[in-house]
Amino acid sequence: MLQKTLVILKPDAVQRRLIGKIISRFEEKGLQIVGMKFIRMTQELARKNYRQHKGRDFFEPLIRYVTAGPVVAMVLKGKEVVETTRKMAGFTFGTKAEPGTIRGDYATSSRFNLVHVSDSQEAAEAEIDIFFGTDEILEYDAVDNPWIYDMSQGTII
Ligand code: CMP
Repeated sequence: MLQKTLVILKPDAVQRRLIGKIISRFEEKGLQIVGMKFIRMTQELARKNYRQHKGRDFFEPLIRYVTAGPVVAMVLKGKEVVETTRKMAGFTFGTKAEPGTIRGDYATSSRFNLVHVSDSQEAAEAEIDIFFGTDEILEYDAVDNPWIYDMSQGTII
């Protein structure tokens, strides 16, 4: 069974011309892109997506940051995709993120950390609904999946 998660390449990723490199990492890992859009995050979208942080001292600066320029919003599909994308993003703060992760390799700031990834399956489902209509998620056969996973026994290994 494959799951879906929401990934947002934040305004610093766009401005620093890193979106191609970051998308490539997810593709090379074997994750499937089933939704993708280049948008300006509105105040409404930002406040909804980050509502669990409302009241924290970094909330308003965070909203200013994510609405300051265009972002790439993506829905990625794969085995244990929430956990995988969280590991690939790395620790929230750039200086603390492990080398080899997106933030560890490209971010230094605690706020300008390039990517947002959903932190649980429940959050992923809610966040996908915030950014994507059901008609914007394109289910299609990933022809390489039988080589990304062992599917020969009816389960995905
Ligand atoms: P993200 O994983 O998208 O989730 C919430 C975001 O708030 C986080 O990435 C950072 O961009 C920002 N953030 C979280 N904690 C702090 C902090 N202590 N100081 C500044 N920004 C923060």
